[in-house]
Amino acid sequence: MPSLEDDYPRYLASKRSVDDRAVNERVLRQLATELEGRTRLDVLVLGGGIGRGLERLLEREVLPVNADIACTLVDLRESNVEAARERLPEWAGSQGHTVTELGENHGRPADLDTGTAEGKSGQEERGPHLRIEAGSRTVDVEVLLADAFSVVERGEWDLLVGGAFLDLFDLSEALPRLLRALAPGGYCYFPITFDGGTIFEPAIEGLAPDRLENAFHAHIDDGGDSRAGRHLLTRLPREGSSVLAAGSSDWVVRARDGAYPAEEARFLRYIVDTVADALTENEETDLGEGILARWRERRHEQIERGELLYIAHQLDVLGQVEEADGTGSKSG
Ligand SMILES: C[S@@+](CC[C@H](N)C(=O)[O-])C[C@H]1O[C@@H](n2cnc3c(N)ncnc32)[C@H](O)[C@@H]1O
Repeated sequence: MPSLEDDYPRYLASKRSVDDRAVNERVLRQLATELEGRTRLDVLVLGGGIGRGLERLLEREVLPVNADIACTLVDLRESNVEAARERLPEWAGSQGHTVTELGENHGRPADLDTGTAEGKSGQEERGPHLRIEAGSRTVDVEVLLADAFSVVERGEWDLLVGGAFLDLFDLSEALPRLLRALAPGGYCYFPITFDGGTIFEPAIEGLAPDRLENAFHAHIDDGGDSRAGRHLLTRLPREGSSVLAAGSSDWVVRARDGAYPAEEARFLRYIVDTVADALTENEETDLGEGILARWRERRHEQIERGELLYIAHQLDVLGQVEEADGTGSKSG
């Protein structure tokens, strides 16, 4: 069984239908309304994975019409960056959009070629620019292999998008760094932000659900934030920004007539293995290897039978930094 670490792009592909269902449409529509009328937009997608977040913004017509949009996707993981570079033109073609390869160093922001080198062998890897013409929207896309925090500081972004991203960091450090990089009045959109709920049903003998959940969340909190969603809601105003919209985007994965849709059985196998691996490797947890091995086995059997229900509690949050005149942004 390949672990998530072995094939991260495959994991991200397997969660596509789960995310598509979960994303909060009200928050997404609010973002679309905020961006209406913009003729130029610089967007940075943080931890962009295989590019699905950008695809969704186009599919759901969130990016403004008649606009010239520059979109940089940045991810630390080489396999994701390669997959995004391969997938995006294919996806755009499948949608009937016109796709043009523009070569390297084509798009803005131009100052992206300076700054800290990151990525494999210490070098930041820039990729070819891709122009996607989706109706009256022109989107120039570059996928960068780099640390999002070094790239973010080099631009003045109109929109930051971080899907399933913020729980990986200590919010008190990460959020101010991200917000500082926004242009006055700029937006941050954080969909699928984990918010401290991991539910597996039906229960399994020998391991109380709370015990596993608490241990898993403690593992996330070692460097990250298992309640990033709610912390984001309280932290944005403290950082002088407004919460324009927020709503839940829980993953709810269940079989219909004994079978999981799309690639969701695979997705569940990745989730179960990720939890079991994390806790097996974690010396802090008092869950023994034997208990975890049995838990993993039972959960895999439940997936085979179409019995496993998995719910993760998450929030989508849309924020805005102050306008240039300091009057503050709208709150909601
Ligand atoms: C849970 S995945 C989410 C991917 C994608 N946003 C999505 O929603 O499908 C988190 C992503 O963040 C990337 N990542 C983690 N830390 C990063 C960093 N410091 N800079 C850039 N990418 C990072 C990982 O490689 C991974 O692709």
